[in-house]
Amino acid sequence: MPYPHLTQPRHPALSTMKNKSQSVLERFANSSMLQRFHEVCIYSAGLAWRILPNSMQVSALGRRYGGSVHKMVQAFSSRSQYFSTFFMRNRPELELMCRLLDQKDYGASVSMAVLACSKGAEVYSIMWKIGSARPDLKLTVYAVDISEEILEFAQRGIYSLDQPDMSAKPDAFETIQERDVSWNTGRDQNAWIFERMTKAEIDSMFEIDGEEARIKPCLKKGINWIRGDAGDEELVRALGPQDIVIANRFLCHMKPGDARRCIHNAARLVRPGGHLFVSGIDLDVRMRVARELGWQPIKDLMRDVHEGDPSLREGWPLKYWALEPFDSDRPDQEIRYASVFRLGGTHAPLASVSGAGIANSVAVPGLAVQRHSG
Ligand SMILES: C[S@@+](CC[C@H](N)C(=O)[O-])C[C@H]1O[C@@H](n2cnc3c(N)ncnc32)[C@H](O)[C@@H]1O
Repeated sequence: MPYPHLTQPRHPALSTMKNKSQSVLERFANSSMLQRFHEVCIYSAGLAWRILPNSMQVSALGRRYGGSVHKMVQAFSSRSQYFSTFFMRNRPELELMCRLLDQKDYGASVSMAVLACSKGAEVYSIMWKIGSARPDLKLTVYAVDISEEILEFAQRGIYSLDQPDMSAKPDAFETIQERDVSWNTGRDQNAWIFERMTKAEIDSMFEIDGEEARIKPCLKKGINWIRGDAGDEELVRALGPQDIVIANRFLCHMKPGDARRCIHNAARLVRPGGHLFVSGIDLDVRMRVARELGWQPIKDLMRDVHEGDPSLREGWPLKYWALEPFDSDRPDQEIRYASVFRLGGTHAPLASVSGAGIANSVAVPGLAVQRHSG
């Protein structure tokens, strides 16, 4: 379900920067006359795209036309956040994470922040994948989301194996627990949350009890559940530098100016030499920040990760959140299509970053962060 108040970070320090950094295109798109006109434009462009034969759509000319349509869709669509997610959502992304961690010594400690974790599927998939590949690593994971209620659901780690009927009336469920689990599992999903898993993976990750799938306790160890805004500088102070920061599939639901500020903040969380995973964001925004801050794109599995999430690829060019097809003719392909970057610590530092992290602390006075230990 969309919840429009989340489309802009609410940190007061950020709102003053907003007007200055709004692009000409954004201001143009916000004018009321164009707001009325935009649906007609998008509809006509979409119609023209749909009647193109597939051979034309995939040609160089077709891709250029698609690119222009997508730019228009991104400029004129209103954006809102969703809770949809999948277990094992992007396999090459998980594989790359393991390859990067393979450089760690036996038994090393690794700290990771998963921003916008939603129902927890991404965090538990990471715990399972890394735990299977490198059981020796001591993982500390901060799972952050701005929504308290989805975070509580994620922390419980109980999902419905049913393909839920979201239109079902509350009294169609036998118990409140069943309603909560079933309804939250299916919330905003246009496809089954388990659809990308094999039966063997489900058995390995969950304890099955009737229609309920419960995350195995060993996969919850080391996860700290935190309600926080990924764009809030306090989060950087609270968590301290991380080896890996994951900021996937929520920045595309923000206006470009807000996404830029949020990704800058996510970058501040990465320790010098650490890695940032950032997909599901307007490519122009990501490219611009990557250039500004001198991020080093990781070429390993670059194309596989870009193409690794079918739900993002399928909507192009008519959905603002969709990803353009990988274009191997582009001279800037590395900076445009890399979803993972090594950061050298060139971002503007905060006045004081404690670097201590908040593991084992229950309350951090003055910070807009609540900790729920997992
Ligand atoms: C589409 S889900 C992404 C789930 C997950 N990252 C994935 O890739 O499957 C978007 C999530 O972003 C969260 N979110 C939106 N804005 C946020 C913000 N500023 N800080 C933290 N979480 C945010 C929403 O509450 C929602 O749970």
